[in-house]
Amino acid sequence: MKTVAERMSTLPIFYFASLAPKIRELEAKGMDVIRLHIGSPDLPPPWAVLTALTQSAVQPDRHGYVHHKGTPALREAWATMYRRCHGVNLDPEQEVVPLLGSKEGIFHLTQAMVDPGDVVLFPDPGYVTYMRSALFAGGEPWAVVLKPDRGFLPDLSEIPKGIARRAKLLWLNYPNNPTGGVATLSFFEEAVAFAQHHDLLLCHDAAYTQVTFDGYRAPSVLEAAGAKEVAVEFNTLSKSHNMAGWRTGAAVGNRTALEALYRIKTHADSGHFLPIHEAAIEAMTGDQDFIAPRNATYQRRRDIVMAALEELGVAFAPPKGALYVWFACPQGQSSVDFTIALLERTGVCLAPGKMFGKQGEGWVRLSLCVPESRLQEAMERLKGFCLPAEGFIS
Ligand SMILES: Cc1ncc(COP(=O)(O)O)c(C=O)c1O
Repeated sequence: MKTVAERMSTLPIFYFASLAPKIRELEAKGMDVIRLHIGSPDLPPPWAVLTALTQSAVQPDRHGYVHHKGTPALREAWATMYRRCHGVNLDPEQEVVPLLGSKEGIFHLTQAMVDPGDVVLFPDPGYVTYMRSALFAGGEPWAVVLKPDRGFLPDLSEIPKGIARRAKLLWLNYPNNPTGGVATLSFFEEAVAFAQHHDLLLCHDAAYTQVTFDGYRAPSVLEAAGAKEVAVEFNTLSKSHNMAGWRTGAAVGNRTALEALYRIKTHADSGHFLPIHEAAIEAMTGDQDFIAPRNATYQRRRDIVMAALEELGVAFAPPKGALYVWFACPQGQSSVDFTIALLERTGVCLAPGKMFGKQGEGWVRLSLCVPESRLQEAMERLKGFCLPAEGFIS
């Protein structure tokens, strides 16, 4: 067989996929691994959503192909959720494209928008798909640095004019993975003005807007005036409604970008399973009362972790949203060395900061997707590993 395409050299296997055999090997030896590396919600979707799925799935007429843009009712449900959560009106016909999870849309939108040589501005540290999909499209990813002292918001004025002129996309993500940083509406207004000035597409990844703490409400980028002219937003039920395995999300906003994304999807997939659409409609339009107590659960978990890190004297960023606590590695250790040593010696599995970009080196990400008792156990193991011999930077 001839070799794989040259551009595959831009896509090393995703770090978590490469970690899976290591975890299996440790478990086979009897180690109790606590998986704090992945942000996969451990709590179930609301019961009404499960009922909607099963009631639909047993109907004989629900098993054929569905239109690439989903059903009108599904697009209307996304519009309903945006009106309720953000006061944003969307045209369900032209401003909503349902996705098989937002990751798929992020990857495909980049293929639809980026020509070889185009610059793609991506946050570092950040969700790695923005950068990888840009490389795969032949683009030039350019890292926009997120610093703790700015609350992990980029300083857009630091982007060199020559780079901004060549940029096609600017990626943002708030509440932020991996740092837990959040954005104000005025920051989004600034980003919209930047996109207008440089004639680029602002892409906001809103995966965590409904996972927030301490009473904080996360805005959509589409709340900023004029956003639809220059912005698309990626959303998903993975985190908002504990439906990560269901693979259901949407891109909303700018019509031109969405038309291009839709066109790619007509070749890359053939729609989604209708019962999942029907359950997603229930998720978005049904009772939302589970969200506040669910977020309170995450908040209690976050507080357990922050208390342990404080005891250890570790530098960390108190998150206002998303599913993670981002904290500093022991002095002098690389994030990969630290996470592998911690995993091998204690069974606690964290995500090394390096997988989120150069700026992530020296940091690690801990996911809040396990019950309190498991987190307590993980914190005890972390303390045993780190104290007193190794010590943390503070
Ligand atoms: C920032 C961010 N964006 C997008 C995704 C993808 O979510 P999904 O494809 O499940 O919608 C994730 C998943 O962890 C994420 O953290």
